[in-house]
Amino acid sequence: MKFFLDSAKLDEIDKAWRCYGIDGVTTNPRHIMNSGKPFLTAITDIANWIKENHLEGQEKFPVSVEINPHLDNAEDMIKEARKIAAMSENFVIKIPCNLEGLKAAKTLEEEGIRTNVTLVFSASQAIQAGRIGAMFVSPFVGWKEANGEDTYPYMSQLVNIYKEKGYETEIIVAALRTGKQIADAAEMGADIVTCGLAVYEESFTHPYTNVGLGRFIDAWDHTEGN
Ligand code: E4P
Repeated sequence: MKFFLDSAKLDEIDKAWRCYGIDGVTTNPRHIMNSGKPFLTAITDIANWIKENHLEGQEKFPVSVEINPHLDNAEDMIKEARKIAAMSENFVIKIPCNLEGLKAAKTLEEEGIRTNVTLVFSASQAIQAGRIGAMFVSPFVGWKEANGEDTYPYMSQLVNIYKEKGYETEIIVAALRTGKQIADAAEMGADIVTCGLAVYEESFTHPYTNVGLGRFIDAWDHTEGN
C-alpha cells in the first residue's frame, strides 16, 4: 500500500519524502491556504521541488492538484485542468465527484489528462469514477467518521467492488486521522492512504516503545562493567 502525504507545505513534503519515503502528494484548497502561498505559487514550488529531486513522472510521484472549487460546469473545469496539467507532468487533476465534475473527468481522461475524483462519500460515486477510468478515486473516511459513521463496511464494500469489476482506478483512502484507519485500509486491500504528517508520525510511534526503551536504559545502566 502506498503512502501519500496530504499537504501543500514544501517542508512537510520534503521531510515526509526523505524520512518516511512517501509515494506521492495530495493537496486541496485548504492545504494550499495552510501553505501560506497563493495557489499558483504553491503548486509551482511543488513542481520545482519534484524537478530538484528527480521525481518527474506520474508513476514515480503523483501530485494531486484540485481545480478552483468555484467552477461549476464541465467546460470551465476542463479548461482549468488543462492549464494545471501543463505545469507539471506529475500533476493529477482533482475533480469533485458531482455531475459536472464526472463529465469533466471523463473528457480529461479521454484526452490523457489524469484525474483524481475527490469528495467521494458513497460506493455508487466511487463506481462511476472507476467506470470512467479516473487515475484515482478519493473516498473521505475521516469526514464520515466525524459524522458518526462506521466506515469499515463501506470501504470494504468499495474495495471489493473495485476488485470484482477490475477497475484500474486506484483507491486513495483519504482524510485519515489515526494509525488504526491506516491499518484498516491496508487490511481491506486499499491501494493508497493519504493523511497529514502529524497522523503519520503518530502512527509510527507507540507509548510502550518509550516505556520499553526506559526499561532497557535502566538495565543498561545497572549492568556491571557498562
Ligand atoms: C484528500 O485527498 C484530501 O485532500 C483530504 O484527505 C481532505 O481531508 P482533510 O483535509 O480534512 O484531512
